Amino acid sequence: MKTLLDLGALGSRIAVVDGMIIQLVAQRLMLAEQVGAYKRAKGEDIFRAEVEDRRIAAIRQIAEELGLNPHFAETLLYLLIGESCKLQMVRLQEAARLPAEPQTEDEWYAKLKHNLLYLAERYSASYDAEYGKGCTATHAYLAYEEELLAREIGKLSDYSLLVDLGCATGRVALRWHGGFDRVIGYDISQHMQSQASRLVEERNLQERVSFERVDLEDGIPLPDESASFVVMSLGTGSDLRDIRRVIADTFRVLKTGGRFFFSFYNRDALVYRWEFLPWQAGLAAIINIHNDSLDVRLNADGHEERVSVFARAYTKGEAEALFAPCAVDLVTYPALSAVLPNEIFSAQGGARAALADADRRLTDTDMGAYIIVTGQKE
Ligand SMILES: C[S@@+](CC[C@H](N)C(=O)[O-])C[C@H]1O[C@@H](n2cnc3c(N)ncnc32)[C@H](O)[C@@H]1O
Repeated sequence: MKTLLDLGALGSRIAVVDGMIIQLVAQRLMLAEQVGAYKRAKGEDIFRAEVEDRRIAAIRQIAEELGLNPHFAETLLYLLIGESCKLQMVRLQEAARLPAEPQTEDEWYAKLKHNLLYLAERYSASYDAEYGKGCTATHAYLAYEEELLAREIGKLSDYSLLVDLGCATGRVALRWHGGFDRVIGYDISQHMQSQASRLVEERNLQERVSFERVDLEDGIPLPDESASFVVMSLGTGSDLRDIRRVIADTFRVLKTGGRFFFSFYNRDALVYRWEFLPWQAGLAAIINIHNDSLDVRLNADGHEERVSVFARAYTKGEAEALFAPCAVDLVTYPALSAVLPNEIFSAQGGARAALADADRRLTDTDMGAYIIVTGQKE
């Protein structure tokens, strides 16, 4: 006999094999950390007696239904709870040992911006090959984004200039340069810009495609009414605190009749409705909606390091308001693929296509992980 008992929010699963209870520890430690962060954000105690009592009652009942010794099941669960609490205590102590956090919001933001440059330096060379590798929901999103970009670009009547904001290594600019007279990409990271420029030289595109290092929060360095299409893809609209300024500048640089495409993280997405998922989901980036950050875990020489960068999620209503009074179209994607265990996609041949189909039917809900906003300058 093999039964899997999912202990839900505790993030632990117990397998019952031939009458023996076996603890499955996969991902449990990572989850303990997420649970700890959630409790800290809510100001809750690490050990919550009423919650644990409910779990103990449930595991005893399940064990009895399966004809197993309820005392043994209870003991096992207490061991799990104890281990989880221990890890949460260790994290708390580590946090207390860290130097004092910057005080003002500006100092905090400056630190996160500095972290972004550090990560960009570290990953610029491997970004194209590695970003989202093996993350099925991120790939589903990128495929959908590409379709929408094709549709939006197809609506243009002027193809003089495409502008890629937060272009990283130029993925979008280099994908769509063919249809435009000129393409310009801007990124705050010198390393991303250099990598993108290297690709331009390799492909001999210097006459039509260029990349510049620019902090977009200082404005878009283009004349008024010069661009046909402005794109900010893959959630990049969430990466800048002063996105209103960038949007205002987008309307300034767009020609009348020019179109725009912005992508944000969606605060109401299914993936953010639970505080943690008891499995590894297929998104490369799940942000921390409690403190507007994306927390990246790095492993160097056996040392784990966590580096946070700014990432603010918006609701559909908030995203729409950023563009007011311009009328915009909003969709969200992907909803289901973003919350299911990554391994579902590789294990089952048709699962990927079926979920992509279901997610496409949900684009007008508020459940998708990303919000895409498109529109035209009238
Ligand atoms: C998630 S990546 C997206 C890259 C690219 N748009 C794509 O779809 O592959 C976000 C990029 O925005 C850049 N970025 C973040 N803040 C920026 C700012 N203030 N000015 C310019 N670029 C910025 C980052 O350096 C990073 O390369």
